[in-house]
Parts: sequence; C-alpha cells; structure tokens
Amino acid sequence: MCGIIGIISKCNSNVVFDIVNGLEKLEYRGYDSAGVVVVGDNGLQRLRTVGKLKNLEDKLKVNPISGAIGIGHTRWATHGKATEENAHPVLTKDVALVHNGIIENYKELKSDLLQKGYKFESQTDSEVAAVYLQMQLDNGFDPREAFRKMLRAVKGTYAFLVIFKNRPDMIFCARNKSPMAVGFGKDVCVGSDASSISANCSEIVYLDDGDYAEVTKNGATFFDNDFKVVDKCRVAVTDDLINTGKGGYSHYMIKEIMEQPSAIRKTLLSNDVPEAFFDNISRILILACGTSYHAGLVGKYWFEKYLRIPTHVEIASEYRYRSPVIEDNTLVLVITQSGETIDSLEAMEYVKKNNSTCRLAAISNVLNSAISRSADCVFHTEAGVEVGVASTKAFTAQLTVLAKLAFSKNSKLLSQLQNLPQACEDSLLLKNDIDKIAYKIKDCVNAIYLGRDSLYPIALEGALKLKEISYIHAEGFAAGEMKHGPIALIDDVVPIICLCPSGDMFDKMFSNIQVAQARGKNIILFTDSVGAGSFDGSVEKIILPSINQELYPILYSIPLQLLAYVVTVLKGEDVDKPRNLAKSVTVE
Ligand code: AGP
Repeated sequence: MCGIIGIISKCNSNVVFDIVNGLEKLEYRGYDSAGVVVVGDNGLQRLRTVGKLKNLEDKLKVNPISGAIGIGHTRWATHGKATEENAHPVLTKDVALVHNGIIENYKELKSDLLQKGYKFESQTDSEVAAVYLQMQLDNGFDPREAFRKMLRAVKGTYAFLVIFKNRPDMIFCARNKSPMAVGFGKDVCVGSDASSISANCSEIVYLDDGDYAEVTKNGATFFDNDFKVVDKCRVAVTDDLINTGKGGYSHYMIKEIMEQPSAIRKTLLSNDVPEAFFDNISRILILACGTSYHAGLVGKYWFEKYLRIPTHVEIASEYRYRSPVIEDNTLVLVITQSGETIDSLEAMEYVKKNNSTCRLAAISNVLNSAISRSADCVFHTEAGVEVGVASTKAFTAQLTVLAKLAFSKNSKLLSQLQNLPQACEDSLLLKNDIDKIAYKIKDCVNAIYLGRDSLYPIALEGALKLKEISYIHAEGFAAGEMKHGPIALIDDVVPIICLCPSGDMFDKMFSNIQVAQARGKNIILFTDSVGAGSFDGSVEKIILPSINQELYPILYSIPLQLLAYVVTVLKGEDVDKPRNLAKSVTVE
C-alpha cells in the first residue's frame, strides 16, 4: 500500500511543493521511501530518497526541481528493499511512472524484456511496467497505444500514474483494486485518496476497477476496461474527507483518541437500522482484518446474545482460501476503516460470486471506498479522517455501529448508548493515571492482556495497540484460557493487564486474576468503582466510569489506546508511522 499523487497546474506554476504536501497526507500509506518527478525545461526531472518524506524535503532544498506537471510517490516496500534504487518514481528514457499495488506477472514480463535487451535498475515489480511502456514507445507506438498495451499485459493490482516525455502535458492514470481519485479545482490532480488532493481540488471522481483516465490541465477523459469513453460523476470534497492536520496535538493518534466522544456522538446520530434489516437473515458472517476483526469479535457476542442470530467472524485473508460453506440468506458484514483493505475486499467479492442470496453490508469510515461501493448498503462510521496508523476512533465508531445493529430490537439498551459519549469523555480524564502505568511498563519486553466475554476481543485489541506502535511483544488472552498453557508466561516482571469491571463476569474474572496474582507481581487492573473494592493495594488500578456492562467493550478500549500511546511516546518511537506498517493494506 503506497501513496501516489499527480498534479497539473492550470497556471503553469511549479507543482513540486504541492506534490510534497499531498505526499505528507499520504504518508500513512507507507513511508519506506519517497520521490517526485516533474516535467521541467530539461525533460523529466526526478528526485528520490530513502525513508520518510522529510528526507525528500531536505533533498529538494539542496537540489530544487521545477515543473507545472508532476507525479509523486511514498512507498511501502513489497518487492525489493527500501533503497533509493527501489524508490518511485521509476524512470526510463521517456517514461516516468509511480505505482501502488502488485504486478503478479512481473517475472515473466521482466524476463521477456531482458531477452529483448532492456536493463533494470531495481528489484521492483513496478519498474517492469515502466520498461514495458518504454519498449512499446521504441516499437513506434504513441503514448496512448503504449499505455493501453501495458494495461493489457500486466496482471494484478495497480494504481498507475504515468508521464511520457513526448506527451509532457498529460498524466495517464489507471486503477485496478488500488484506490485512485481524480480531482478538479485550482489544479487538476490525481491521488490515492481525496485528502491528498483536497488542497488543490473541490470536486473529485473515483475511478472504478478497470478504468483509466487521460488527465491534462483542461480536465480528464475517462475510459472503461474496453477503452470506451465513459462519464464519471463528480462528488464534492467534503470535510469528512479532509485531513485537517494534528490540530495542536503532538501526534495524530492522540488527537484521534481525544476525538472519540464526538465520533461516537456523530455515529449515534446516523446509521439508523431499518426495521426489517434482519428479516430473513439466518446467519451473520463478519469479514475483517486487524483491529476491525476485533470489532467483529465483539459484534459476535452482541448479535448472538441480543438478536439470537448465529454469527461467525472470519479473518478475511484466510476466509476465501479455505473453500468456506456459504449458507443462503447470510448477512455479510465487512468491517473496515479504510474501505480499501484488499483482503477484506476480495473476501467480500468471493461471497458475492459464490452465493447471490447473501446481503452484503459494509461498516466503513470512507464512503466512496472500494468496499463501500461494492456493498449493498453501508453503515458509515462518522469518525472523520483517521491518519494514525493505529486505529482508535474508527474502532470505537465501528463498535458503536455494531451496538446499534445488535441492540436494534432492544429499546432499553439502545437508549443506554446515549450515555457513551460522556462516559468516554470521563475516561479520557484518566490520562494522568495511565501515564504512571505507562512509565512502569515502558521497558518491559512482553505484556499480557486478559479479558472475558465481550472484553476478550478488547484484550486482543489492547495487545495489538501496544505491540504495533511500541514494539513490545503483547498478547491478549481469554482469561479463562490462561490455565490451559499461557499461564507459564507469568513471572514477577511481565505486566498482566486485566479488564475486570463489575457485572456478570466479575467473579469469574476475579478468580482468574487471583490465579495470575499467585504467580506474578505486576498486575494492572482496569475496573470500575464497584469492582475496585474487591482488590487490595497490591494491584495498580485504573478506575473507569460506571456504565451498562454491554457497553464495556467501547469504553474499555479507550484507556488501552492511551496506555499504548503513552508507552510509545516514552520509548521515543514513531507513534503515527510505526516501522513496517501502513494505514491501509491494499496488497494481499
Ligand atoms: C489498526 O490498528 C491496524 N493498523 C490494522 O490492523 C487495521 O485495523 C487493519 O489493517 C484493517 O484495516 P481496515 O480497517 O482499514 O480494513
């Protein structure tokens, strides 16, 4: 999952800095290297650096380049290490190209090109597309014919942006499974998402899979998979699509953690569940990855308890490869923040292809995303743009939608949801207490998270938050499962983070903690005022506001997010752009 952007200035001004600003909005998609190409007085001028965008900005100060049309790229390495040779844009004698996706047949194309005498600089699959274009130009085809031939030759996923030296006024763009938006405003732009081009555009068009476009400063011509001209509808660039920056916070993640009460409030105001939504539904299948998968696990507890509908939660990347049985009249819920996770998209398409009686719903944070557009209906998590790679506000907004769905036949519980925003506000006030805990565990090598019932997925999520940004190896367990093996991990040092509020599961969880406490010394408890009374001073306690126990998964996620955030800041790691990760995984 890389970030790509192209800008054509309508008034012939230098686009380099707008491209870099756009790349800054796209760094969440990958930050192994960055680069830009512009069409300057001496043809195609390129600058690339390894590492984060800041390195490219520094290099540009020393080696400025200028042009009124250009393309840029920020990389998450798939083929070939994070080196300058493998950085995009890829350049041949007459072609500049950036790519997000994976060319699955790059090896056969590359060997054919090598046999024809073409040379390669990098180990990337993307370079094969650029050299293929060069070959077609050398064979006498014009840029349009060369570009179309390349689209027919490559197999796999792509969002390509290409500038040809002898067509310096045009950017050729093509999309298959990797997101791309074309924008119109003071400039004409193309980007991986709306946010990256929102500073230069007021309207956008989302390309569909198989589409390609020829973009100039006068506008764009769109073509479908058969290269027939097609009309595409424009949508306004609205606030919920725009990354408004850190707003005075030191990191996007803490800003987004703090935005959760308002995100939950907005999500509660929309997403009303149609009365007949669950009519004729015999089972629910939830498909998701990562944090969104954890939301799905909570959904299972709620759906089965309150709707009495059998619910299965599947890791999307595993689902379609195990020849699953897809029962008729299944409601398929795809949960996703980005709406572009290819594992989830492909799992959804698999269901679509194999059982037409299923209804496909998406819980998504990006309305015009691939998954949203492929679903029969969308529940929009009103969290706003989420930039921090570790998902926070989108997660609790997903849980809020799942609660509205699961409680849709229980008016008492539905009304309880109105207490959530305030309880979340109050839990954010615990940050000073959490700072102390974070200070205690920041140097630990491992951490254990324990929860039961619908807090078991939150133990998994708390562990994921800590491991993905602080790099401490953390693992979540169902507390009752500890005695079946994981208890061997307990020693005097490892922090054992226990979610144990009062309620139906308290006694069971309390005894699981006693078993842990008999073997370990570093027990950290997240509970409420009622639960806290049962524990002596030997455990560290974080006391959360009281709330209906059905809503615990949403409320108890917040202090765990804060804990992961503070530990990471104390460790001096990169909170918003953790190593090896990217925000949206658009490659399998
Ligand atoms: C979130 O903290 C993780 N970075 C990651 O697991 C993420 O939840 C997963 O990649 C799914 O992304 P999606 O919600 O955009 O589909």
